[in-house]
Amino acid sequence: MVYQEYGPEDLSAIVGQGWADEVRAAPREYFIPDRAQATPMSDALSHWIDRAEDPDRWRAAVYSDTTILTQVDDGATELTEETATRKIPSSSSTAPSLVGDFLDLLDPRPGDRVLEIGAGTGWTAALLSARLGDQAVTTVEVDEQVAKRAEENLRRAGFAPRVVIGDGALGHPDGAPYDRVHVTCGISTVPYAWVEQTRPGGVIALPWLPNSVRGQQLVLTVSDGQAVGRFHGRASFMMMRAQRGELPPPVDEPRYSSTRVEPSRIFEAGPGFTAALSVLLPGVLLTNWEWGEDRGTLRDPASVSYASASGTGLGGSAEAMQVGPRDLWSELEDAYRTWLKWGSPGVERLGVTVDRTGQHVWVDSSENRIAEGTEGPWDNTARK
Ligand SMILES: C[S@@+](CC[C@H](N)C(=O)[O-])C[C@H]1O[C@@H](n2cnc3c(N)ncnc32)[C@H](O)[C@@H]1O
Repeated sequence: MVYQEYGPEDLSAIVGQGWADEVRAAPREYFIPDRAQATPMSDALSHWIDRAEDPDRWRAAVYSDTTILTQVDDGATELTEETATRKIPSSSSTAPSLVGDFLDLLDPRPGDRVLEIGAGTGWTAALLSARLGDQAVTTVEVDEQVAKRAEENLRRAGFAPRVVIGDGALGHPDGAPYDRVHVTCGISTVPYAWVEQTRPGGVIALPWLPNSVRGQQLVLTVSDGQAVGRFHGRASFMMMRAQRGELPPPVDEPRYSSTRVEPSRIFEAGPGFTAALSVLLPGVLLTNWEWGEDRGTLRDPASVSYASASGTGLGGSAEAMQVGPRDLWSELEDAYRTWLKWGSPGVERLGVTVDRTGQHVWVDSSENRIAEGTEGPWDNTARK
């Protein structure tokens, strides 16, 4: 049959050769529902897959670098071709290349015990179980239906790691300490529980998305009651449920004003600025925001404030629209000027420490924590 052309072998190169045996041992087809929404990592458009109607297309999506959405709306609405694009995505099988990136960063060794946060379809837990054995893997999933399906998928594929229904932000103290914590949902603030439940020298790998659906792969190493680490490339993920920051539509009238900074300069600032914003504008989300594009929106769920602007590209100012009690666009411009004063540190110079007092972003060295108004010994002026 034609659709047999696609198989686990196709994913070996995509996940990474270091995981080829595990990819063969845990074929992805056991973890993908018959009907789902496929979003290829290439520029190809998202599309609905239905195994009964078009088995070739289904199999091609399963065995290619494609994110497969498996639930919307926390399961309150059925996933259909129509709801897949309209409702909030709430569970998926992550694109194999990104699964591979994170597994490489996690780098689990024989004998390691791993805690996964976000079981989803169970495929990642299967790959980990294939390497380390079922006994070494615990995966926590907040959604009961998703967890049950993951358990079924795992069983069909021949694996039996521990699947726990619960809030992953609390970790799973019963199985601690772990050598590795593998987080597969977006995190804006790293829960301290994961640090407490990880052995000294152990690693926590997570998609760090402090203010948007686009963020960075973060690897923290645990020692002396804290976890410290740096960024390793981009990551876009669905957020951990409690950290989604949903907000109602605005009720106030929009206010229009001229921007002080050309918006395109801000949109070109890149992920170093995004990371700084987690400190300068905590809790504020960047939506419809793509680095290098010429428009973007900010939202503050706490005060129900919105702002947006578009770059002119003409060197002049543009118009900003602001709604709600906060002047979010003006605050963004102030934050941008602070970041410029720091010497515009890019994401490669930044890192994160998580300790009992919370999450801290730093520049160059963990001693140089940034805070609002920080001048810092690390800015360009002080380096000269
Ligand atoms: C991108 S999916 C995970 C993909 C999964 N690792 C796989 O291999 O299919 C993210 C998952 O995180 C789960 N999730 C969200 N918030 C959570 C929380 N607080 N605790 C545990 N799981 C959570 C979602 O329900 C969703 O199933």
